[in-house]
Amino acid sequence: MDSCKDVQSLIDFGRLSFHRAIQIEMNREEFFYLLPYLFSLALSLGILFYSWRHRRVTETTLAVARAAGFNEEELLRIRRGSTLHDIGKMGIPDDILRKKGPLTEEEREVVKNHPNTAFELLKGIPYLEKSLEIPYCHHEKWDGSGYPRGLKGKEIPLSARIFAVVDVWDALSSDRPYREAWSREKVAAYLLNESGKHFDPKVLDIFLELMRQGKI
Ligand SMILES: [Fe+2]
Repeated sequence: MDSCKDVQSLIDFGRLSFHRAIQIEMNREEFFYLLPYLFSLALSLGILFYSWRHRRVTETTLAVARAAGFNEEELLRIRRGSTLHDIGKMGIPDDILRKKGPLTEEEREVVKNHPNTAFELLKGIPYLEKSLEIPYCHHEKWDGSGYPRGLKGKEIPLSARIFAVVDVWDALSSDRPYREAWSREKVAAYLLNESGKHFDPKVLDIFLELMRQGKI
């Protein structure tokens, strides 16, 4: 993985393997189903591991989770869940994933299915079963307006409530093709405005306190 081209080729191969796996429709025990499936998963783990952005999100999620009182065993589960949070996007067709213009309503629904895809991918793997909370629930919102299940308040696992804050903080703090990164103050103000709407107010308090302390 020395260049962007190599990484892109691997991503393409992983996605193709995934699509082939689901097209074959064999049962889970059959070799030709498991081989590309496991390869796709291993590939994703590798790519995500080497992604700086994912590392920053994961380390920040762990810092907040630690401050919220999670023990070391739970933190390990959160680390795995955070690393795999968008693995469900492998189920999104290329023409939608790489579309330059705005998505249609139908395409948006396909994208919004990626937490369900993550659940389907990971649920049968005992090693990762307890790490499913973040991949499955990271787009749920405190007020119930999120997806895929519209969970509300504490119905949303705490790890996913923490990750949701970190994910938005990271996105707003980063440069995008269509806008520059926001300042720390502007990001903090935005997050605060979403307290009780997108975010769990108590989780947000912990996050903002860590920001004030310069730990984020
Ligand atoms: Fe996502």
